[in-house]
Amino acid sequence: MALQLGDIAPDFTQQSTAGEVHFHQEIEGKWAVLFSHPKDYTPVCTTELGEVARLKPEFEKRNVKVFGLSVDPLEDHQGWAGDIEDTQGQALNFPLIADADRSVATAYGMIHPNANDTLTVRSVFIIDPNKKVRLTITYPASTGRNFDEILRVIDSLQLTADYQVATPVNWKDGEDVIIVPQVTNEEAKTKFPKGFKELKPYLRVTPQPNRN
Ligand code: BEZ
Repeated sequence: MALQLGDIAPDFTQQSTAGEVHFHQEIEGKWAVLFSHPKDYTPVCTTELGEVARLKPEFEKRNVKVFGLSVDPLEDHQGWAGDIEDTQGQALNFPLIADADRSVATAYGMIHPNANDTLTVRSVFIIDPNKKVRLTITYPASTGRNFDEILRVIDSLQLTADYQVATPVNWKDGEDVIIVPQVTNEEAKTKFPKGFKELKPYLRVTPQPNRN
């Protein structure tokens, strides 16, 4: 069965461009993003990996470790890395897992046989410090992902974990957030000193707690 939200992300040991990855050990105490791309030496994937490398400081600020993956061998990853730097102006600076035996792709359901029976699709998993899967998305091979959106989801998940707030449609960092239903109005008065507006008993908004 496909991995679902709340499941423990499967552990694995696999080769990567940054040495052997012992997944659970490397993500201990951190958030993680594990994403697959279909194939090395392909155009859309080249742009995605350059962008993730460029965004590395943004992931680090959020205590997130990022891992890319495809079922290509390590030598291909190493050769392709030069092309990523040449064309995207950004060297690969995070582990790119070489899942040649497809063990990780299989455990995470990254191969969708009716789309392509050998290549991984563009999967993304956000994993929290308890190693639980908190987001899964799947894009087709021909559409490059928006990694700003991945950062936005991480910001939202971390706000929920830290402050018991949820984020509304199209929320952007700095905008008002929603108090989760589990928090009573009495509790909200102390938890959210900037105050809150009750539009309906189930819809209460407050300024983003970790912004001035
Ligand atoms: C690409 O990265 O450009 C790509 C990879 C596999 C299939 C189609 C496009």
